[in-house]
Amino acid sequence: MAAARDHFSSRLGVLAATLGSAVGLGNIWKFPALVGQNGGASFLLVYILATLCIGLPLMIAELAIGRAGRRNVVDVFRTVAPRSGWWLIGMGAILSCIVILGFYSDVAGWVFAYIFKSALGGTASADPQTAWHTFNQLTGDPLASLGWQWAVLILTGAIIMRGASKGIEKVTRVLMPLLFLLLVGICLRSLTLPGAGEGLRFLFMPQWDRISGEVILTAMGLAFFKMSVGMGCMLIYGSYFKEEVNIPATALRVMVCDLLVSLLAGMAIFPAVFSFDFEVTQGPALLFMTIPAVFASLPGGHLLATVFFVLSGIAATGAILSLLEVPVSCLAERLSCSRAKAVPAVLAGLMLLGAPAALSLGIWKDVQVCGMTFFDLYDALSSMLLMPVCGIATCLFVGYSAAGGQVLARLGNGRAPRAVLFLCRTATPLLILLVLLHGLGLI
Ligand code: PHE
Repeated sequence: MAAARDHFSSRLGVLAATLGSAVGLGNIWKFPALVGQNGGASFLLVYILATLCIGLPLMIAELAIGRAGRRNVVDVFRTVAPRSGWWLIGMGAILSCIVILGFYSDVAGWVFAYIFKSALGGTASADPQTAWHTFNQLTGDPLASLGWQWAVLILTGAIIMRGASKGIEKVTRVLMPLLFLLLVGICLRSLTLPGAGEGLRFLFMPQWDRISGEVILTAMGLAFFKMSVGMGCMLIYGSYFKEEVNIPATALRVMVCDLLVSLLAGMAIFPAVFSFDFEVTQGPALLFMTIPAVFASLPGGHLLATVFFVLSGIAATGAILSLLEVPVSCLAERLSCSRAKAVPAVLAGLMLLGAPAALSLGIWKDVQVCGMTFFDLYDALSSMLLMPVCGIATCLFVGYSAAGGQVLARLGNGRAPRAVLFLCRTATPLLILLVLLHGLGLI
């Protein structure tokens, strides 16, 4: 079974696929606004430190485990650490992926709907309230919400069906450069607007007094989510890396490129937002209310808005591919069945699980579990509980188990593996624990 295992075939493909996972909607609707609101360059510095202490070591560790075992996220632990309970990390990872996909595919569906809406001029109002109304019409229509979510799942499922090299690698190798290109194009337009400097000041002006415990915890949580760690995506992608790929260097490149995409997104959005005197927002309000209204204020704006949603769709697609690959590869390998059977089975489960989230901004908005809508519940469950728990467990595996030590040793005796070992024994699990306790409202 393992003999014919697929692998990413080129260095560029490795980078494109891994970066495709890290770059997602987080770069667009979360990161830039958080930077601006929490102290500009000072927040950036805290974020970079948090990524070096949490995101990067975990990414290297997960990629190394994946390559050492070359199996799906459950069997990879059974291979590198037989007769132990570490495979439970893989089970947790699958659960996190499924829960995240439950709401992430929903948002991706809205983004895809907006590509068509803006191309056809349906988002042409410069009034944020009208733009918000258009968005509520979409989320309030159960058929449209579900239909777009399913369309995204089917599209990404069709890519996953073709496997790691012919599906994920081939597609991300085209999409990632395209994303950079489109982003740079919008940036240039936005930066040449009158008053654009105000947006740059909002983004980058250091404000050291803004840095508080709360802000540091936010940066740490972001470093975790951005690097797609704690949910098996890097484990499974590592299992498709060839022996000669330099894992620490790849992870560092992904970190730098991902940061660059986030900064470019900030420079595409905020100069235009300030130039037309709009309010700073984040999350769905930024993407579906402020951005359409801002672009509608520009001549030829619907074209820019369309391009913006295309690039957001690209970002979401790369992230979803990595999330989908985790359960699909596990099902296919465990049941020794083809992807052609595993993909529809996983998609059917996701359509069922994702439906309550898709409906929870419309007809099910009053249905609550633990005081939250399904959409918020899935978000909280994955990013506040499952991901940190899997992250801490991975650190303990690498830092304290003999099998984990051997996995790292396969990366050689250079500075990077030694630093990863040191961090996974000390700072990384402790910092993630703080994120977990904060997420649970205990600190
Ligand atoms: N890193 C992605 C983003 O920024 C989200 C993601 C998390 C994707 C975990 C895959 C796994 O949006």
